[in-house]
Amino acid sequence: MLEIKNLKLSYGNTQVLNGVDLSVNRGDVVSIIGPSGTGKTTLLKCINYLARPASGTIAFDQVRMDYRKPDNTAVQAIRLRTAMVFQQFNVFKNMTVIQNVMDPLVVVQRKSKDEARSIALQELERVGLSNKIDSYPSQLSGGQLQRTGIARALAVKPDVMLFDEPTSSLDPELVGEVLKVIRDVTSSGITSLLVTHEMQFAKNISNRIVFMDRGVVAAQGSPAEIFDTPSNPRLAQFLSSEHSIQ
Ligand SMILES: Nc1ncnc2c1ncn2[C@@H]1O[C@H](COP(=O)(O)OP(=O)(O)O)[C@@H](O)[C@H]1O
Ligand SMILES: [Mg+2]
Repeated sequence: MLEIKNLKLSYGNTQVLNGVDLSVNRGDVVSIIGPSGTGKTTLLKCINYLARPASGTIAFDQVRMDYRKPDNTAVQAIRLRTAMVFQQFNVFKNMTVIQNVMDPLVVVQRKSKDEARSIALQELERVGLSNKIDSYPSQLSGGQLQRTGIARALAVKPDVMLFDEPTSSLDPELVGEVLKVIRDVTSSGITSLLVTHEMQFAKNISNRIVFMDRGVVAAQGSPAEIFDTPSNPRLAQFLSSEHSIQ
């Protein structure tokens, strides 16, 4: 469904992606783990061209693009089929919860207000926010804000959900409610790529784990291969350092 090859990207003199290859099948739940600064966020952003690689290719079903020759039609087609949930919640402060979820449906997908509202209500129910639809972001907890962001992403019915450390800005007691929603979303069969430091969660929900290190995919495999029998020394070292901070 999604195939990325030899992605390279630098910021100034810093080579951030050094030739990333990643292949995702429909229905996959792929968790991306790895040290900070290793290019995980940049990789997700390259998929919808929020970050611009110098070279490499992407194939998203029949849409294909060589990043050396960016193509606006391909970028738009890929953007319409993906939705990203950011670490810092992607909600507009001047809109209510339901307006936030309706917004891309009306503005990007040109749906009527009635249809957008009905889809938004369904997605807000799915994330457990039916009782907050008229609240403003300032009236919500971090967990509720992130669940609004997830409803907003789901509402456009993307083929692929991209989650970038969706729980890392949350107070610890709010992490669980957001992980529960992500678990529900991924188990519904929607193809998902999830950057996370929640190792146990990644192990439970993913069918594949990708370990990024220094701008490349340094190891990948089933959760058991990656977490129980890590053969790559840097992966083993990373996993032991993650455990030590928990
Ligand atoms: N817009 C940017 N401009 C310059 N440097 C950036 C930018 N975004 C990320 N970087 C740098 O690229 C590297 C990889 O960042 P990132 O993809 O955010 O890593 P990760 O998500 O794995 O922590 C880091 O060194 C970061 O400082
Ligand atoms: Mg990141």
